Amino acid sequence: MPQRISPARCLSGSISLPGDKSISHRYAIVASIAAGDSRIQNYATGADCHSTLSAMRALGVPVEEHGTEVVIRGRGLDGLRAPSADLDAGNSGSTIRMLSGILAAQPFDTRIGGDESLSRRPMGRIIEPLSQMGASISARDGRFPPLEIRGARLRPVDYTLPVPSAQVKTCVLFAGLYAEGATVVREPVRSRDHTEIALREFGADLHVQAKTITLQGRPTLSGRDLVVPADLSSAAFFIVAALLLPGSKLSIRGVGLNPTRSTLLDFLAGMGAQIRIVDIESRNGELVGDLLVTSSPVRGGVIEKETTAALIDEIPVLAVLGAASEEGIAIRDASELRIKETDRIATIAENLRRMGVAAEVLPDGLVIPGRQRFHAASLDSFGDHRIAMAFAVAALCADGDSVIHRSAAASVSFPEFYETLAAVCS
Ligand code: S3P
Repeated sequence: MPQRISPARCLSGSISLPGDKSISHRYAIVASIAAGDSRIQNYATGADCHSTLSAMRALGVPVEEHGTEVVIRGRGLDGLRAPSADLDAGNSGSTIRMLSGILAAQPFDTRIGGDESLSRRPMGRIIEPLSQMGASISARDGRFPPLEIRGARLRPVDYTLPVPSAQVKTCVLFAGLYAEGATVVREPVRSRDHTEIALREFGADLHVQAKTITLQGRPTLSGRDLVVPADLSSAAFFIVAALLLPGSKLSIRGVGLNPTRSTLLDFLAGMGAQIRIVDIESRNGELVGDLLVTSSPVRGGVIEKETTAALIDEIPVLAVLGAASEEGIAIRDASELRIKETDRIATIAENLRRMGVAAEVLPDGLVIPGRQRFHAASLDSFGDHRIAMAFAVAALCADGDSVIHRSAAASVSFPEFYETLAAVCS
């Protein structure tokens, strides 16, 4: 059923959002190879993080779910068992890329694949470093899922990431847990550091100096009680909607504010957005706080170089904001957007076009002039959760009712998105 979205006057109230997707994946995987029980509160509700839980169960890890609390009875570094069938990562690039680091080091072989979108996403970026560590992986056409991973005894590596990718960094660090000695990962640009924080929380010996991470292999990891902060990338849709709709005042509670993720807030502040951060605290090494968003005119801006990597998941909704901003938005150095759940440069441009919004498409970005109006339209997620949610926000600002086809894609990261949005819209 396509989702109908009516224009809204403003957003108001106070909301809590599901747990952070990136952090949930990491906690689930590390808890599974730690010794003893971990209790994870506010675990992400989306399908992607459930793909990770299903994979861990298939690898012999007892996982209990009580609402959004997940209890994982960790089996220790060497406690995973060979799955009886292929592992299914669904739509989740994080599941297949991060878990491959662990699978490569097991004394058994596994095959892991996913849906049609995942089957088009490049895996050469993990096959290369894992092969240097002694892993043996074959892939469709040498680089696409499904992956056939022959478990091996891994050696440590000193690896410089050719692309800024936290998933690849995580894959190498997870493999490094199984290699005797120090694994070193060097980043061209500092990417989200939830893995480093989580590994330390569980007891790993890991040091970070500038953009170099050094991890000692074969640590003793122990189960922990953890709370996942609300996902800032999910909050981004509500923040942009509140900024755009005059008279809005919205509070979003308990949001993850890790500095490697919060470039969004700095970027919006630079555009003139009124967002206050209150009650900041540290939980399990992650910063958390409440956001108070007040509608405000925004100037527009340029997203390029390192900022592009830091905002990569928020670009769809920032494109929407840019079209309504005073000076528009330019997005450059974003060729990675073409290999996300969809080619996001193409899917953003197509939905903008359907709403009568002009955009210039570049090979690695978009230039969207400001002061444009959104017209009601028949939109499509193209199966991509962030495209569905970004254009639901655009539809709130349109001149009539819009529909979003394949709107259920939102459930990959945020199954409650449309209900939560309806609850704060008037
Ligand atoms: C993620 C890293 C990013 C991001 C994805 C989640 C992670 O991907 O786009 O949604 O949790 O590490 P890349 O590592 O491909 O940049």
